[in-house]
Amino acid sequence: MKNQPLQRQIVITGDGSHTLYIPDLGEHYHSIHGAIQESEHVFIQTGLALLKEKKTIRILEIGYGTGLNALLTLKYAAKNYLSIEYTTIEKYPLQPNEYNLLNYGRVLGNEWEKPFLTLHECPWELKNEITPHFKLTKLTVDLVSIDFEDCFDLIFFDAFGPDIQPDLWTEPVFQTMYQAINIGGILVTYSAKGQVRRNLIASGFYVERLAGPPGKREMLRATKP
Ligand SMILES: C[S@@+](CC[C@H](N)C(=O)[O-])C[C@H]1O[C@@H](n2cnc3c(N)ncnc32)[C@H](O)[C@@H]1O
Repeated sequence: MKNQPLQRQIVITGDGSHTLYIPDLGEHYHSIHGAIQESEHVFIQTGLALLKEKKTIRILEIGYGTGLNALLTLKYAAKNYLSIEYTTIEKYPLQPNEYNLLNYGRVLGNEWEKPFLTLHECPWELKNEITPHFKLTKLTVDLVSIDFEDCFDLIFFDAFGPDIQPDLWTEPVFQTMYQAINIGGILVTYSAKGQVRRNLIASGFYVERLAGPPGKREMLRATKP
């Protein structure tokens, strides 16, 4: 994949929420059946909801993109009185003229419009206190160069698909994810591709195939035993 800038177009998905489309790659940021619906199912209900008994949950997201997963996490955390430390990495950050047009705040209820902009406008490379219970660190780094150790309870693995970016779904990358996660921690991803599942297993994870969001039969959840 080439370096900046990626040409992106805004598209409406099946649940009325936006996603982005990259014509050069023929790739969308989310399912066209529903962006919010997909993120809510894969990352919140199949990932975060499992950890809601923990006092503080440390999350690593691979691919910040539109900020939708961070916004849904902020919303879920507020409703369930969770304390979240959210670290996200992104190689191709959105520009203000892109994130300002996204409709997630409006679709989720007007009170989420301002928090959505705060998530985008807060500085990169710093820990930002978005609320007393939600801290956000956005890092402009490449997935292949990160090196965390035993830091996270949950990983949202949300890179572009394995057919578009096969180098990000390899055994060495999943070994880095395995190292970054605490024992008992989990990684969730929308992909259920056989090779992805085999690479996760080879990296030491226990892997479950679970029901996917509407329009997609399966997804994967990997646990560090
Ligand atoms: C499927 S999109 C999802 C993004 C985001 N989670 C969302 O909900 O909008 C994949 C994201 O991974 C980012 N990405 C692609 N290659 C990357 C890399 N090597 N390192 C870090 N991020 C990368 C893309 O720029 C894009 O934002």
